[in-house]
Amino acid sequence: MTSGRKCGVVPNVPRLLCSADRSVPEASAPMPESAQRSIESSAISDPGISTFPGVLDGVAMRGVLNEVIPDEWGTVQNVSFHILKHHPGSRCTFEIGLRTTNGRYCLIGKVYAADRFDVYRAMNEIRRAGFGSEDEFSIPKPLAYIPGLRLLLQEKVQGPRAKQFFLAGSERDRVEASERCAGWLAKFHATAPQSGDVLDPTGEMRSIAKWSRTIAELGEPLAGLAGRVSKRLEERASAVANGMELCAGHGSYSCHQVILSEGRTIAFDWDAYDVADPCHDVARFLVALQRLAFKYLGSIRTLDTAAEVFLKTYQGLSPFRVAANLPWYRALTCLRLSKYEANRPVCTFGKGIEVLLREGLRVLEQ
Ligand SMILES: Nc1ncnc2c1ncn2[C@@H]1O[C@H](COP(=O)(O)OP(=O)(O)OP(=O)(O)O)[C@@H](O)[C@H]1O
Ligand SMILES: [Mg+2]
Repeated sequence: MTSGRKCGVVPNVPRLLCSADRSVPEASAPMPESAQRSIESSAISDPGISTFPGVLDGVAMRGVLNEVIPDEWGTVQNVSFHILKHHPGSRCTFEIGLRTTNGRYCLIGKVYAADRFDVYRAMNEIRRAGFGSEDEFSIPKPLAYIPGLRLLLQEKVQGPRAKQFFLAGSERDRVEASERCAGWLAKFHATAPQSGDVLDPTGEMRSIAKWSRTIAELGEPLAGLAGRVSKRLEERASAVANGMELCAGHGSYSCHQVILSEGRTIAFDWDAYDVADPCHDVARFLVALQRLAFKYLGSIRTLDTAAEVFLKTYQGLSPFRVAANLPWYRALTCLRLSKYEANRPVCTFGKGIEVLLREGLRVLEQ
Protein backbone atom coordinates (compact mmCIF):
# COMPACT_ATOMS: atom_id res chain seq x y z
CA MET A 1 0.00 0.00 0.00
CA THR A 2 1.16 3.51 -0.70
CA SER A 3 -1.20 5.68 1.30
CA GLY A 4 -0.38 9.33 1.73
CA ARG A 5 1.07 9.89 -1.70
CA LYS A 6 0.44 13.31 -3.18
CA CYS A 7 -1.59 13.51 -6.39
CA GLY A 8 -0.98 16.56 -8.56
CA VAL A 9 -3.11 17.40 -11.58
CA VAL A 10 -2.00 15.54 -14.66
CA PRO A 11 -3.05 16.09 -18.25
CA ASN A 12 -4.97 13.36 -20.01
CA VAL A 13 -2.75 11.15 -22.12
CA PRO A 14 -3.70 9.30 -25.28
CA ARG A 15 -4.75 5.68 -24.95
CA LEU A 16 -1.87 3.60 -23.75
CA LEU A 17 -0.63 0.71 -25.82
CA CYS A 18 0.03 -2.20 -23.56
CA SER A 19 2.51 -4.13 -25.68
CA ALA A 20 5.25 -3.07 -23.28
CA ASP A 21 3.06 -4.06 -20.37
CA ARG A 22 4.94 -5.25 -17.33
CA SER A 23 1.95 -6.11 -15.19
CA VAL A 24 1.89 -9.80 -16.00
CA PRO A 25 4.89 -12.09 -16.33
CA GLU A 26 3.54 -14.35 -19.11
CA ALA A 27 4.69 -14.09 -22.72
CA SER A 28 2.63 -11.66 -24.77
CA ALA A 29 -0.22 -12.88 -26.94
CA PRO A 30 0.73 -14.80 -30.07
CA MET A 31 -2.48 -13.54 -31.63
CA PRO A 32 -3.69 -9.97 -31.14
CA GLU A 33 -7.20 -9.43 -29.83
CA SER A 34 -7.82 -7.39 -32.93
CA ALA A 35 -11.46 -8.40 -33.18
CA GLN A 36 -12.11 -6.74 -29.83
CA ARG A 37 -14.17 -3.60 -30.13
CA SER A 38 -12.29 -0.44 -29.33
CA ILE A 39 -14.34 2.36 -27.81
CA GLU A 40 -12.79 5.44 -26.36
CA SER A 41 -13.96 6.24 -22.85
CA SER A 42 -14.71 9.87 -23.70
CA ALA A 43 -17.55 8.67 -25.96
CA ILE A 44 -19.31 6.82 -23.15
CA SER A 45 -21.85 7.93 -20.60
CA ASP A 46 -24.33 5.81 -18.69
CA PRO A 47 -26.87 7.28 -16.29
CA GLY A 48 -27.68 3.72 -15.15
CA ILE A 49 -24.20 3.34 -13.64
CA SER A 50 -24.11 6.23 -11.22
CA THR A 51 -20.41 5.94 -10.37
CA PHE A 52 -19.26 5.97 -14.01
CA PRO A 53 -18.13 9.64 -14.08
CA GLY A 54 -16.05 9.11 -10.93
CA VAL A 55 -14.46 5.98 -12.35
CA LEU A 56 -13.45 7.62 -15.62
CA ASP A 57 -11.98 10.66 -13.88
CA GLY A 58 -8.27 10.14 -14.50
CA VAL A 59 -7.13 12.41 -11.68
CA ALA A 60 -9.34 10.81 -9.05
CA MET A 61 -8.46 7.37 -10.31
CA ARG A 62 -4.79 8.11 -9.96
CA GLY A 63 -5.28 8.49 -6.22
CA VAL A 64 -7.30 5.26 -6.04
CA LEU A 65 -4.73 3.32 -8.02
CA ASN A 66 -1.81 4.55 -5.94
CA GLU A 67 -3.49 2.86 -2.98
CA VAL A 68 -3.95 -0.40 -4.80
CA ILE A 69 -0.99 -1.18 -7.05
CA PRO A 70 2.05 -3.10 -5.79
CA ASP A 71 4.80 -0.89 -4.33
CA GLU A 72 7.28 -2.07 -6.96
CA TRP A 73 5.21 -0.44 -9.69
CA GLY A 74 6.14 2.98 -8.31
CA THR A 75 3.86 6.03 -8.26
CA VAL A 76 1.15 6.54 -10.85
CA GLN A 77 1.74 9.57 -13.08
CA ASN A 78 -0.83 9.15 -15.83
CA VAL A 79 -3.97 7.10 -16.22
CA SER A 80 -5.87 6.30 -19.41
CA PHE A 81 -8.98 4.28 -20.09
CA HIS A 82 -10.01 2.10 -22.96
CA ILE A 83 -13.52 0.65 -22.95
CA LEU A 84 -13.68 -3.06 -23.75
CA LYS A 85 -17.33 -3.96 -23.20
CA HIS A 86 -20.27 -1.91 -22.04
CA HIS A 87 -23.71 -3.21 -21.08
CA PRO A 88 -25.64 0.04 -20.54
CA GLY A 89 -27.31 0.23 -17.17
CA SER A 90 -25.51 -2.83 -15.88
CA ARG A 91 -21.69 -2.90 -16.14
CA CYS A 92 -18.71 -1.75 -18.14
CA THR A 93 -15.32 -3.38 -18.51
CA PHE A 94 -12.32 -1.29 -19.46
CA GLU A 95 -8.58 -1.41 -19.64
CA ILE A 96 -6.67 1.00 -17.42
CA GLY A 97 -3.30 2.08 -18.72
CA LEU A 98 -0.89 3.36 -16.11
CA ARG A 99 2.31 5.27 -16.58
CA THR A 100 4.20 5.19 -13.33
CA THR A 101 7.59 6.25 -12.10
CA ASN A 102 8.74 2.70 -12.88
CA GLY A 103 7.18 2.02 -16.28
CA ARG A 104 3.92 1.18 -17.99
CA TYR A 105 1.30 -1.25 -16.72
CA CYS A 106 -2.22 -2.37 -17.52
CA LEU A 107 -5.14 -3.40 -15.35
CA ILE A 108 -8.72 -4.36 -16.00
CA GLY A 109 -11.48 -2.37 -14.32
CA LYS A 110 -15.15 -3.36 -14.20
CA VAL A 111 -17.72 -0.91 -12.91
CA TYR A 112 -21.18 -2.13 -11.93
CA ALA A 113 -24.57 -0.46 -11.51
CA ALA A 114 -25.10 -2.46 -8.30
CA ASP A 115 -22.68 -3.41 -5.56
CA ARG A 116 -20.67 -6.52 -6.51
CA PHE A 117 -18.21 -6.85 -3.66
CA ASP A 118 -19.28 -10.49 -3.66
CA VAL A 119 -17.50 -11.04 -6.99
CA TYR A 120 -14.23 -9.80 -5.50
CA ARG A 121 -14.70 -12.04 -2.46
CA ALA A 122 -15.56 -15.08 -4.61
CA MET A 123 -12.49 -14.51 -6.81
CA ASN A 124 -10.25 -14.43 -3.75
CA GLU A 125 -11.76 -17.66 -2.45
CA ILE A 126 -11.25 -19.38 -5.79
CA ARG A 127 -7.63 -18.20 -6.02
CA ARG A 128 -6.95 -19.58 -2.58
CA ALA A 129 -8.44 -22.94 -3.57
CA GLY A 130 -5.64 -23.53 -6.10
CA PHE A 131 -6.30 -21.12 -8.98
CA GLY A 132 -3.46 -18.66 -8.27
CA SER A 133 -0.92 -17.06 -10.58
CA GLU A 134 1.49 -19.98 -10.35
CA ASP A 135 -1.14 -22.59 -11.13
CA GLU A 136 -1.67 -24.08 -14.57
CA PHE A 137 -5.42 -23.50 -14.22
CA SER A 138 -6.14 -20.13 -12.70
CA ILE A 139 -8.20 -16.95 -12.61
CA PRO A 140 -7.09 -13.29 -12.80
CA LYS A 141 -5.71 -11.81 -9.61
CA PRO A 142 -8.33 -9.50 -8.08
CA LEU A 143 -6.50 -6.38 -6.92
CA ALA A 144 -9.22 -4.46 -5.13
CA TYR A 145 -12.88 -3.64 -4.94
CA ILE A 146 -13.66 0.03 -4.37
CA PRO A 147 -17.16 0.09 -2.79
CA GLY A 148 -17.74 3.84 -3.32
CA LEU A 149 -17.16 3.42 -7.05
CA ARG A 150 -18.60 -0.11 -7.37
CA LEU A 151 -15.37 -0.86 -9.14
CA LEU A 152 -13.53 -4.16 -9.38
CA LEU A 153 -9.85 -3.92 -10.27
CA GLN A 154 -8.05 -7.00 -11.47
CA GLU A 155 -4.99 -8.29 -13.25
CA LYS A 156 -5.02 -7.92 -17.01
CA VAL A 157 -4.19 -11.37 -18.30
CA GLN A 158 -2.10 -11.46 -21.44
CA GLY A 159 -2.86 -13.95 -24.15
CA PRO A 160 -5.39 -14.95 -26.78
CA ARG A 161 -8.85 -16.07 -25.87
CA ALA A 162 -9.74 -19.71 -26.57
CA LYS A 163 -12.30 -18.41 -29.04
CA GLN A 164 -9.49 -17.32 -31.35
CA PHE A 165 -8.12 -20.85 -31.59
CA PHE A 166 -11.56 -22.18 -32.50
CA LEU A 167 -12.08 -19.50 -35.13
CA ALA A 168 -8.64 -19.22 -36.69
CA GLY A 169 -6.59 -22.18 -35.49
CA SER A 170 -5.76 -25.50 -37.12
CA GLU A 171 -7.58 -28.69 -36.15
CA ARG A 172 -4.71 -29.42 -33.76
CA ASP A 173 -5.08 -25.95 -32.18
CA ARG A 174 -8.79 -26.54 -31.70
CA VAL A 175 -8.24 -29.89 -30.05
CA GLU A 176 -5.65 -28.43 -27.71
CA ALA A 177 -7.91 -25.50 -26.85
CA SER A 178 -10.77 -27.91 -26.11
CA GLU A 179 -8.56 -30.02 -23.87
CA ARG A 180 -7.30 -27.04 -21.91
CA CYS A 181 -10.78 -25.57 -21.45
CA ALA A 182 -12.09 -28.96 -20.32
CA GLY A 183 -9.15 -29.44 -17.96
CA TRP A 184 -9.78 -26.05 -16.40
CA LEU A 185 -13.48 -26.80 -15.85
CA ALA A 186 -12.92 -30.30 -14.47
CA LYS A 187 -10.45 -28.99 -11.88
CA PHE A 188 -12.76 -26.12 -10.97
CA HIS A 189 -15.79 -28.37 -10.48
CA ALA A 190 -13.78 -30.85 -8.46
CA THR A 191 -12.00 -28.43 -6.13
CA ALA A 192 -13.45 -24.92 -6.00
CA PRO A 193 -15.41 -23.82 -2.92
CA GLN A 194 -19.15 -23.50 -3.35
CA SER A 195 -20.45 -19.97 -2.90
CA GLY A 196 -23.27 -17.95 -4.38
CA ASP A 197 -26.83 -18.75 -5.34
CA VAL A 198 -27.89 -22.30 -6.10
CA LEU A 199 -29.21 -22.84 -9.61
CA ASP A 200 -32.32 -24.95 -9.16
CA PRO A 201 -33.89 -26.17 -12.43
CA THR A 202 -37.43 -25.87 -11.10
CA GLY A 203 -36.67 -22.29 -10.04
CA GLU A 204 -35.74 -21.42 -13.64
CA MET A 205 -39.33 -21.70 -14.87
CA ARG A 206 -40.12 -18.02 -14.56
CA SER A 207 -36.99 -17.07 -16.51
CA ILE A 208 -37.72 -19.69 -19.13
CA ALA A 209 -41.21 -18.28 -19.68
CA LYS A 210 -39.80 -14.74 -19.89
CA TRP A 211 -37.10 -15.68 -22.39
CA SER A 212 -39.71 -17.47 -24.48
CA ARG A 213 -41.93 -14.38 -24.56
CA THR A 214 -38.98 -12.19 -25.63
CA ILE A 215 -38.19 -14.56 -28.50
CA ALA A 216 -41.88 -14.79 -29.45
CA GLU A 217 -41.88 -11.05 -30.18
CA LEU A 218 -39.85 -11.89 -33.29
CA GLY A 219 -42.85 -13.81 -34.70
CA GLU A 220 -43.04 -17.22 -36.35
CA PRO A 221 -41.41 -19.67 -36.62
CA LEU A 222 -39.36 -18.54 -33.60
CA ALA A 223 -42.35 -18.05 -31.30
CA GLY A 224 -43.58 -21.62 -31.83
CA LEU A 225 -40.11 -23.11 -31.47
CA ALA A 226 -39.42 -21.22 -28.25
CA GLY A 227 -42.79 -22.34 -26.88
CA ARG A 228 -41.97 -25.99 -27.63
CA VAL A 229 -38.51 -25.79 -26.03
CA SER A 230 -39.95 -24.11 -22.92
CA LYS A 231 -42.70 -26.67 -22.56
CA ARG A 232 -40.28 -29.59 -22.72
CA LEU A 233 -37.88 -27.94 -20.31
CA GLU A 234 -40.73 -27.45 -17.90
CA GLU A 235 -41.90 -31.06 -18.20
CA ARG A 236 -38.48 -32.39 -17.24
CA ALA A 237 -37.30 -29.82 -14.71
CA SER A 238 -38.32 -31.83 -11.63
CA ALA A 239 -36.61 -34.99 -12.85
CA VAL A 240 -33.43 -33.01 -13.58
CA ALA A 241 -33.57 -31.38 -10.13
CA ASN A 242 -33.99 -34.77 -8.46
CA GLY A 243 -30.98 -36.22 -10.20
CA MET A 244 -28.62 -33.29 -9.85
CA GLU A 245 -25.29 -33.04 -8.07
CA LEU A 246 -23.99 -29.66 -6.99
CA CYS A 247 -20.59 -28.02 -7.35
CA ALA A 248 -19.08 -24.55 -7.72
CA GLY A 249 -20.15 -23.00 -11.01
CA HIS A 250 -18.63 -20.33 -13.23
CA GLY A 251 -22.09 -19.57 -14.54
CA SER A 252 -21.15 -18.32 -18.02
CA TYR A 253 -18.27 -20.57 -18.98
CA SER A 254 -17.36 -20.44 -22.68
CA CYS A 255 -14.46 -20.01 -25.05
CA HIS A 256 -15.09 -16.24 -24.82
CA GLN A 257 -14.11 -16.26 -21.14
CA VAL A 258 -10.95 -18.37 -21.26
CA ILE A 259 -7.47 -17.05 -22.04
CA LEU A 260 -4.87 -19.54 -23.20
CA SER A 261 -1.45 -18.15 -22.43
CA GLU A 262 1.86 -19.98 -22.41
CA GLY A 263 1.53 -22.62 -19.69
CA ARG A 264 -1.50 -21.03 -18.04
CA THR A 265 -5.23 -21.39 -18.70
CA ILE A 266 -7.23 -18.58 -17.13
CA ALA A 267 -10.99 -18.13 -16.83
CA PHE A 268 -12.25 -14.59 -16.24
CA ASP A 269 -15.64 -12.87 -15.79
CA TRP A 270 -16.93 -14.08 -12.44
CA ASP A 271 -20.18 -12.09 -12.39
CA ALA A 272 -22.40 -15.16 -12.74
CA TYR A 273 -20.59 -17.50 -10.31
CA ASP A 274 -23.00 -19.86 -8.59
CA VAL A 275 -23.55 -23.32 -7.18
CA ALA A 276 -25.02 -25.60 -9.82
CA ASP A 277 -25.21 -28.94 -11.51
CA PRO A 278 -21.85 -29.33 -13.34
CA CYS A 279 -23.90 -29.85 -16.50
CA HIS A 280 -24.70 -26.15 -16.51
CA ASP A 281 -21.12 -25.00 -17.23
CA VAL A 282 -20.51 -27.91 -19.60
CA ALA A 283 -23.65 -27.04 -21.55
CA ARG A 284 -22.77 -23.32 -21.68
CA PHE A 285 -19.43 -24.15 -23.21
CA LEU A 286 -20.87 -26.55 -25.80
CA VAL A 287 -23.74 -24.34 -26.93
CA ALA A 288 -21.55 -21.22 -27.06
CA LEU A 289 -19.24 -23.17 -29.36
CA GLN A 290 -22.18 -24.02 -31.63
CA ARG A 291 -23.30 -20.40 -31.67
CA LEU A 292 -19.77 -19.31 -32.55
CA ALA A 293 -19.60 -21.93 -35.31
CA PHE A 294 -22.89 -20.80 -36.82
CA LYS A 295 -22.06 -17.12 -36.60
CA TYR A 296 -18.55 -17.16 -38.01
CA LEU A 297 -17.94 -20.54 -39.66
CA GLY A 298 -21.23 -21.06 -41.45
CA SER A 299 -22.68 -24.07 -39.65
CA ILE A 300 -23.60 -25.05 -36.12
CA ARG A 301 -21.74 -28.32 -36.77
CA THR A 302 -18.35 -26.92 -37.84
CA LEU A 303 -16.85 -27.22 -34.37
CA ASP A 304 -18.41 -30.57 -33.49
CA THR A 305 -15.05 -32.32 -33.26
CA ALA A 306 -13.77 -29.70 -30.83
CA ALA A 307 -16.98 -30.06 -28.81
CA GLU A 308 -16.56 -33.84 -28.65
CA VAL A 309 -12.96 -33.45 -27.47
CA PHE A 310 -14.10 -30.99 -24.80
CA LEU A 311 -16.79 -33.35 -23.51
CA LYS A 312 -14.62 -36.46 -23.61
CA THR A 313 -11.75 -34.70 -21.83
CA TYR A 314 -14.07 -33.27 -19.20
CA GLN A 315 -15.67 -36.65 -18.57
CA GLY A 316 -12.27 -38.27 -18.27
CA LEU A 317 -11.10 -35.78 -15.62
CA SER A 318 -14.23 -34.84 -13.69
CA PRO A 319 -15.62 -36.74 -10.71
CA PHE A 320 -19.13 -35.87 -11.98
CA ARG A 321 -21.19 -37.83 -14.49
CA VAL A 322 -23.01 -35.45 -16.79
CA ALA A 323 -24.75 -37.67 -19.35
CA ALA A 324 -28.22 -37.73 -17.78
CA ASN A 325 -28.82 -34.03 -17.21
CA LEU A 326 -26.70 -32.52 -19.96
CA PRO A 327 -29.45 -32.44 -22.65
CA TRP A 328 -31.74 -30.40 -20.40
CA TYR A 329 -29.03 -27.85 -19.66
CA ARG A 330 -28.06 -27.71 -23.33
CA ALA A 331 -31.64 -26.92 -24.30
CA LEU A 332 -31.86 -24.36 -21.49
CA THR A 333 -28.73 -22.68 -22.84
CA CYS A 334 -30.06 -22.72 -26.40
CA LEU A 335 -33.12 -20.85 -25.16
CA ARG A 336 -31.09 -18.42 -23.06
CA LEU A 337 -28.65 -17.56 -25.85
CA SER A 338 -31.58 -17.19 -28.28
CA LYS A 339 -33.11 -14.68 -25.87
CA TYR A 340 -29.75 -12.87 -25.66
CA GLU A 341 -29.67 -12.53 -29.44
CA ALA A 342 -33.35 -11.57 -29.64
CA ASN A 343 -32.76 -8.81 -27.09
CA ARG A 344 -30.12 -6.99 -29.11
CA PRO A 345 -31.19 -3.51 -30.27
CA VAL A 346 -31.09 -4.79 -33.85
CA CYS A 347 -31.55 -8.52 -34.11
CA THR A 348 -29.47 -9.76 -37.03
CA PHE A 349 -29.32 -13.36 -35.91
CA GLY A 350 -32.86 -14.56 -36.73
CA LYS A 351 -31.69 -17.64 -38.61
CA GLY A 352 -29.20 -18.36 -35.83
CA ILE A 353 -31.96 -18.20 -33.22
CA GLU A 354 -33.99 -20.69 -35.24
CA VAL A 355 -30.99 -23.02 -35.50
CA LEU A 356 -30.32 -22.77 -31.76
CA LEU A 357 -33.94 -23.48 -30.85
CA ARG A 358 -34.09 -26.48 -33.20
CA GLU A 359 -30.87 -27.72 -31.60
CA GLY A 360 -32.53 -27.37 -28.18
CA LEU A 361 -35.44 -29.53 -29.36
CA ARG A 362 -33.08 -32.06 -30.93
CA VAL A 363 -31.05 -32.63 -27.78
CA LEU A 364 -34.19 -32.94 -25.65
CA GLU A 365 -35.61 -35.55 -28.02
CA GLN A 366 -32.46 -37.66 -28.13
N1 LIG B 1 -8.78 -10.14 -16.37
C1 LIG B 1 -8.83 -9.88 -17.66
N2 LIG B 1 -7.69 -9.92 -18.41
C2 LIG B 1 -7.73 -9.62 -19.73
N3 LIG B 1 -8.84 -9.24 -20.39
C3 LIG B 1 -10.00 -9.18 -19.71
C4 LIG B 1 -10.06 -9.51 -18.31
N4 LIG B 1 -11.33 -9.34 -17.89
C5 LIG B 1 -12.04 -8.94 -18.97
N5 LIG B 1 -11.24 -8.84 -20.07
C6 LIG B 1 -11.63 -8.37 -21.41
O1 LIG B 1 -12.78 -7.56 -21.29
C7 LIG B 1 -13.89 -8.11 -22.01
C8 LIG B 1 -15.17 -7.92 -21.23
O2 LIG B 1 -15.03 -8.48 -19.92
P1 LIG B 1 -16.17 -9.35 -19.24
O3 LIG B 1 -16.40 -10.59 -20.01
O4 LIG B 1 -15.81 -9.51 -17.81
O5 LIG B 1 -17.43 -8.38 -19.40
P2 LIG B 1 -18.97 -8.74 -19.43
O6 LIG B 1 -19.70 -7.45 -19.36
O7 LIG B 1 -19.28 -9.72 -18.37
O8 LIG B 1 -19.12 -9.39 -20.87
P3 LIG B 1 -20.06 -10.58 -21.38
O9 LIG B 1 -21.34 -9.96 -21.80
O10 LIG B 1 -19.30 -11.14 -22.55
O11 LIG B 1 -20.21 -11.58 -20.27
C9 LIG B 1 -13.52 -9.58 -22.22
O12 LIG B 1 -14.11 -10.11 -23.36
C10 LIG B 1 -12.00 -9.53 -22.32
O13 LIG B 1 -11.61 -9.22 -23.64
MG1 LIG C 1 -20.21 -11.54 -18.27
